[in-house]
Amino acid sequence: MRSIAAKLWLTMVLLVALVLGLLGLTQAKAIKWTYYRLEAHRMVAETEELAGLLASGASPQAVGERVAFLSRVFRATVLVVDASGRVQHCRGMGPRRRFWEGAVISGEDVAAVLAGKTICREGELPLFQGVRLLWVGVPIRSGNAVTGGVFIYAPLAPLEARVRGLEVTLVAALLGGAALAGLLSLFVARHFSQRLVAMEKVAEAMAAGDYAARAVVTGQDEVARLAVSLNKLAAELEKRIAELKRMDAARRDFVAAVSHELRTPLSIIQGYTEAILDGMVTPEEMKLYLDTIREEVERLKRLTDELLDLRRLETGAIKIRQEKLDLGEIASQVAARFQAAPEASKLHFHVEVSPRSLVLGDKDRLEQVIINLLDNAFRFTPAGGSVTLRVESAPEEVVLTVQDTGPGIPPEELPYIWEKFYRSDKARARTTGGSGLGLAIVKQIVELHGGRVEVQSRPGEGSTFKVTLPAAK
Ligand SMILES: Nc1ncnc2c1ncn2[C@@H]1O[C@H](COP(=O)(O)OP(=O)(O)O)[C@@H](O)[C@H]1O
Ligand SMILES: [Mg+2]
Repeated sequence: MRSIAAKLWLTMVLLVALVLGLLGLTQAKAIKWTYYRLEAHRMVAETEELAGLLASGASPQAVGERVAFLSRVFRATVLVVDASGRVQHCRGMGPRRRFWEGAVISGEDVAAVLAGKTICREGELPLFQGVRLLWVGVPIRSGNAVTGGVFIYAPLAPLEARVRGLEVTLVAALLGGAALAGLLSLFVARHFSQRLVAMEKVAEAMAAGDYAARAVVTGQDEVARLAVSLNKLAAELEKRIAELKRMDAARRDFVAAVSHELRTPLSIIQGYTEAILDGMVTPEEMKLYLDTIREEVERLKRLTDELLDLRRLETGAIKIRQEKLDLGEIASQVAARFQAAPEASKLHFHVEVSPRSLVLGDKDRLEQVIINLLDNAFRFTPAGGSVTLRVESAPEEVVLTVQDTGPGIPPEELPYIWEKFYRSDKARARTTGGSGLGLAIVKQIVELHGGRVEVQSRPGEGSTFKVTLPAAK
């Protein structure tokens, strides 16, 4: 048997059959017993009444009528004897001739009744050969003395027929109940197994690489909890696989971007070198070409340096030192270098540093962060604009911001600027010398310091880069 539903169903049906069978058996017994007892009670009651009638000295005619009546009602033989066992009245079916009036009868039952006992028995008697009987005997009393006895011998056949009728009804009801239970349990089992089958489908979908499939959770039972776990597993797998795919794509993009970055300077170098080797250039041109070649070589060197640096930061090959530093002080030092540069003169450069902005970190790396941010700000802000460097200290964190009045960054580009090689305008960026790695390095360094980077920018209104680091205690 391969299906859980079938197993469940069979178990339930067997159980129901067992319970109903036991119930049927005991109920049939109980019905029979109750029925016989009721009948016996009635017979005893009627017999006692007749005995009372006899004890009160009623006329033989009245007694005879009563006897005839009882014989009819119970379809039984009714017998009245006196204290010596002599038959006074006898009416009824069967071997009545054996009890003709005036005969003396004896036996265990007669003796018991004449001794003052009421009897009530079931079985066969030699007098009524082959007929199963229910019979009662009641003494007739006059004061303390027993003056005779009254007996009713009723055949069991009509009673048995009625009991059998009831038993048939009972069996029919039980069979009906069993069938209904079987049907119901079929639904329950199917419902149960359908949920399992649904989960199996989800598992198979996952095995086939579809991690978006989810099982429907109904209720809170174990099956529902299993479904919840399965869904959790699917969600987790979906997340991890997506992550893996993303990483794989990033790696491929990275290789493509690096080759792309290398191709332009290399072909420039190649072109100029060939021109020089051709010997067709004037000494002035030669000087110009060689300058260009040196520039491109420097750019290549910077690019590879930055790449290696970023790689080491990303793989954790570089240890970030954990010294207590004043970020404000570092910012002021870097700012001084920028102020000394010739480009600074065409911009308004403000530095606002709050004292004792202590952080735990690596001085060279934090300098690199500030240099990269200021370099961008200076490079992207046109003459006449302004650049502001701020370091603010809060109890829990130190915030460094670099704000400029440059062109700003379009909102759709904002999420990408921290990525390697991302430059909003490739052509312009190339001529302005950026490799597109600066912000990726900034982000990596800040995160290695347990901090975070944010940017706010609107095209035409400038940009604000914000670095938040945990404050040192
Ligand atoms: N201050 C800024 N104003 C406008 N755009 C900026 C600014 N800083 C960065 N960007 C944008 O983010 C890109 C990535 O910056 P970065 O990683 O430093 O690379 P790079 O400086 O080599 O171009 C830049 O090319 C530019 O498009
Ligand atoms: Mg840069």
